[in-house]
Order: sequence, then structure tokens, then C-alpha cells
Amino acid sequence: MAASYSRTMPTVLVIFGATGDLMARKIVPALSHLFANSKLPHMLQIIGVGRKEFTDESFRAYIADLLRQQKEQQPFLSHIFYHQGNFDAAATYQTLAKKLGYIDNSWRVCSNKLFYLAVPPLLYQSMFLNLESSGLTIPCGPDEGWTRVIVEKPFGKNLQTAQGLDVLLGALFKEEQIYRIDHYLAKEMLQNILVFRFSNNLLENVWNKDGIESIVIKFFEEVGVEGRGAFYDGVGALRDIGQNHILQMLALATMDNPESLTSDAVRQKRAALLEQLPGLTDEQITKGTSRKQYIGYRDIPGVAPDSQTETYFNINFNLTAKRWNGVQVSLEGGKKLGETRKEIIVTFKHPLRCLCPPEGKHLKNKIIFRTEPREEIKIIFWSKKPGLDMHIQQADFDFIYQQTKDHTQAYEKLLLDCITGNQLLFVSTEEVKAMWRFIDPIITVWQKNLVPLMTYQLGEVAK
Ligand code: BG6
Repeated sequence: MAASYSRTMPTVLVIFGATGDLMARKIVPALSHLFANSKLPHMLQIIGVGRKEFTDESFRAYIADLLRQQKEQQPFLSHIFYHQGNFDAAATYQTLAKKLGYIDNSWRVCSNKLFYLAVPPLLYQSMFLNLESSGLTIPCGPDEGWTRVIVEKPFGKNLQTAQGLDVLLGALFKEEQIYRIDHYLAKEMLQNILVFRFSNNLLENVWNKDGIESIVIKFFEEVGVEGRGAFYDGVGALRDIGQNHILQMLALATMDNPESLTSDAVRQKRAALLEQLPGLTDEQITKGTSRKQYIGYRDIPGVAPDSQTETYFNINFNLTAKRWNGVQVSLEGGKKLGETRKEIIVTFKHPLRCLCPPEGKHLKNKIIFRTEPREEIKIIFWSKKPGLDMHIQQADFDFIYQQTKDHTQAYEKLLLDCITGNQLLFVSTEEVKAMWRFIDPIITVWQKNLVPLMTYQLGEVAK
């Protein structure tokens, strides 16, 4: 946590997209939990901005309803306000700027301002421009009151659009003011990979091409895209979870030791790994990737009847960076896959002839980092079967991350880190670009239909 955080700093959090799905599912529960645990600033206003008609009162009732609590939430609700307006209308931002001015006057301070863009990314460009022209991005004083912005993934649709957004954003904010969310970085289990790898010295010497044969990342979801048809159809599985969550999982599993836990050090090592991903050739993509769509997907409201959008993908390639040269990688994920399973499977080489009675054959050792169905680290090894004979059997060391009282949800951690000014779990511009650089050629080959879109029955791929 950044040392400078003080709960006495007055803060205004403005959330664009206040009546949307993200607000309801992730942001409101996270804020209310942080509030209940006395983690938020004492002087706090949360202003929801949305198109729908709400007063402050009716918006509070809506939030109370989301939390399914009334009385207990009263202190939290009193910090919540609503500002109605269209996201593409300059007036929305001008009246908001006035409102923020009143707040600062009544508090007699220059408060911290945090703008959260919880809206579809296609709105980003016009919102950035409106934020700029309304003056909302200009801090009210040189030394007091910071201004920060949170943006959600996907950041751009490809490298070119991501760079375009970055230019716009870079004109308004410095990199240290920009918080790009990939909520996977804040999952307890994934944060734990760094600790597992670098606070222990057990495996560091074999954590490379000499010790490891392959890395498989599975991101299987049982759910479909009901309710998100229009958004998802314009994005597809690879952009939805591949360009961000899965590549970040790969980065955490394979990055070099950052040697310190400062956000600069960790972000640099993640970016360095992502920048070393191979640029796949058309032939490698044609041979090594597949894309599929589940039967029934086209009937979902918002999805085009002839949609070519993939709801599942699989990408196979070999790493080429010095430390990892030749290690096989498989990235696989999507919707309606019959089970929810999200994991990184690291398989070790077994170069010597196996001393494995009776047949002399066995599966190789594995370490699995899993976030679902439960958060755990599993080490698969072999042990002697108790008894008179010298036979072996598979055994597991299993570290199960209990859902303890202190177990924090990703969005709580991210919101608090943004307020405290810690960017470690946020994606840097270098990482965004490196991830697109890897993904873009795959999408281009798919768009040329060099890898035909296949179909699958619900649950079929996971078997
Ligand atoms: C989101 C994707 O970023 O991550 C969703 O847009 C996906 O499609 C979700 O379901 C998975 O997140 P979690 O935290 O539920 O594993």
C-alpha cells in the first residue's frame, strides 16, 4: 500500500455507468465492503453518473436494493449521489464539474478525484474528450488533491486503437494517474503466484526451459453470454479473456524475479515477458490455433444471426525468450464449456529414465495454480504405494486458499489500491501494447478465415 494514503484526505469518486452491470455486480459490493471495514476516506462522496432517471434518493434505494440491505447500509448510502446525463453530451460534464466545485467549496478543500469509466469501451474516446473540455481532469491545486482515472478492459480493439486511446488519455493524464483494470491481477490466487515463485527458493532453479516442458492455461466457463450478446458479439472470446486475463496469467507464471514489490519493478517484468512473446506467423497460427462457436449462440439477443464470433479458442505455440526457449504453451478458454475451471498447469520435464515400478512409466510432475472451482495450488508427484510391493501411486500436495474473513475480492483490492495510489495490480501501457502485438496477428488470420470457425455443443469442448 502506498505510504501516503491517509483516510483523512477528502475524496470524490465519480462512476460513469452507475446503473450498469459492472456497478451492480462488482463495484457496489466492493465499495460497501470497504466502507464497512473502515477502509475508505472519512470524507467521501460517490457520484454515480448514468442516463437513467434517478434522484439521489431513488438511486440510494436502488443501491440498497442491490445490497439487499437497508438499515445497516444507511451510513454507506449517505455517501452516494446521482448525476443524470448522456455520456456523449458536453452538458453532462459541465454540470458535473460545477457539482464537484460545490463539493470542494463546502468541504473547503481541493479533494481527490477519481473517475471510473465503467462503460463500454466504444464510449471511451468521446468521454475522454468531454472530460478534457469540461476541465474536470485539471487538478484544482498544484500540490493538493490528485486526479486519477480508472478504465476497464478491453482497452482498444487492437494495437492501433489501443495506441489511439493512449494518445488521448496521455494528453489528459500522466501514466501514474491512469489505472487500467484487469481484475485477474487482483485475484488472491494470482497474486500468490509471485509469492510462491519468489518468496520460496525451492523451484527457481528449474523454473525455465531446462526444468519445464509445458504451460497450459485453461479458462473454461460454464456460463454463456446471455444479457451481454451485443457487447460480446463485437469482441469474441480471444479479446474478452485472452488478450488480458490469460496473457496476464502467463506473465505471472513466467516473468523474471522483479527483485522488489514496487509497482514499477513488477509492471516492468510483466511487460518484459509479454514483449518477448513470439510474433506468430500465418502458418503457425493456421496450424496452432482453433476457434469455435457454441450451437445456440446466434439466438442470443444482440448477436448477429450470421455471427462469426468465437466463443471458444485454443492457441498453441512455443516460447522463444532465452529463459523459456522451446517451452510449449497452450491457451484455451471460452463460454458454455460444461464446467468452470480456470487454472495454470505447469508440467515438468522428466529427462532421465523413470524409476517408476512396475511399468517404468508415469505422468510427469505438475504444479497447478487454480482459481476455480476453488483457489488452490496443487503439486502432483509420485510416492510409494504402502504395502509389500514397490509400486508407485500419484499423490498431491494441495494448498487450498480458504475463503477466510480476510480474503478480499478483486474489485475491493483494486478500488482501494487506486485510492491509495498503488499501480502494481494495474496494467501499464507497455503491457497493453505487448498483449495486442501478440493477439493482433491471430485475429487477422482468423478474419481471413484461414482458420475456419467450428461449432460445438454445450459442454463439449471441456470433455
Ligand atoms: C470478464 C469477462 O473480464 O471476466 C467475462 O468479460 C468473464 O466474460 C469474466 O466471464 C471472468 O471473471 P471471473 O472473475 O468471474 O473469473
